[in-house]
Amino acid sequence: MSLRHLVTGGAGFVGSHLVDRLMAAGDEVICLDNYFTGRKANIARWIGHPRFELIRHDVTEPIRLEVDRIWHLACPASPVHYQFNPIKTAKTSFLGTYNMLGLARRVGARLLLASTSEVYGDPEVHPQPESYRGCVNTIGIRSCYDEGKRIAETLCFDYRRMHGTEVRVARIFNTYGPRMLPNDGRVVSNFIVQALRGEPLTLYGDGSQTRSFCYVDDLVEGLIRLMNCDQTGPINLGNPGEFTIRELAELIRGQINPGLELVQRPLPQDDPLQRQPVIDLARAVLGWEPQIPLAQGLQPTIAHFRDELAA
Ligand SMILES: NC(=O)c1ccc[n+]([C@@H]2O[C@H](COP(=O)([O-])OP(=O)(O)OC[C@H]3O[C@@H](n4cnc5c(N)ncnc54)[C@H](O)[C@@H]3O)[C@@H](O)[C@H]2O)c1
Repeated sequence: MSLRHLVTGGAGFVGSHLVDRLMAAGDEVICLDNYFTGRKANIARWIGHPRFELIRHDVTEPIRLEVDRIWHLACPASPVHYQFNPIKTAKTSFLGTYNMLGLARRVGARLLLASTSEVYGDPEVHPQPESYRGCVNTIGIRSCYDEGKRIAETLCFDYRRMHGTEVRVARIFNTYGPRMLPNDGRVVSNFIVQALRGEPLTLYGDGSQTRSFCYVDDLVEGLIRLMNCDQTGPINLGNPGEFTIRELAELIRGQINPGLELVQRPLPQDDPLQRQPVIDLARAVLGWEPQIPLAQGLQPTIAHFRDELAA
């Protein structure tokens, strides 16, 4: 029997790739989005399909729908977007998750929360296992997002304890791929856009801070396995391959224009120095680990940005 899925944030970067997978599996999909950072173009191929519905809605308002699975992704994910209106970001995380959990409870649906590695803040433990409780600044410019996701996780577990709601919590680490927005300020999109424009690549700090980069198809596979397993989580989903920002810049300019310069700028406030997932739990429980190496995943990502800039 086919399931009916609700994907909040379904017109966004990760959400639209998830919609593609669920549609390809033959299920019914309701995509809900307020188009803050999402785009209709990302799900345009499904508009008019008998198993697909599109709803313009803001998750800070309640909604009544009959669904079996709720993939709760709605929330701006890049600092430029979540800092644009930080109070709204906090509301989206708290009220949005509260409303979706209320819906899940009412209709007996299972809800997966797209949480984030940002719940670890600027970690004193490296790499970060799920048991690490994090080091988050409660009053900084990233707090609306980091603390928003922390309270969203808390709500999930309280709904589970109080009402027996079935929840799954994924802690997602940096993910990249086609459909990222060129202006989202994330390091992969910044470097690619700069390189395609023939501009110098900007390193914040000396470029020795590290990140891990997961290709979007790998992430979506992990989310699907988590939704379908019998573990609540939280479970880290990310690529444990750790790269310095300088290495990333060199890899990207190598694929686009090796002659470009790298320039340094001051490090922004609260920018974590290290970020790398421990994915032992995902390996053990989900049988999951990323398959696509960074150099390979960059190719379709660069092709996407080339099309974006040409348009
Ligand atoms: N991409 C990553 O590297 C990453 C890392 C960690 C966590 N995540 C989480 O995964 C989810 C998806 O991230 P993404 O990278 O696809 O970001 P995105 O900005 O592309 O997608 C977010 C989507 O949510 C929608 N949205 C935002 N606020 C909304 C609201 N109030 N009501 C309805 N829709 C709303 C946006 O329009 C957009 O379509 C987010 O919850 C994010 O926190 C992403």
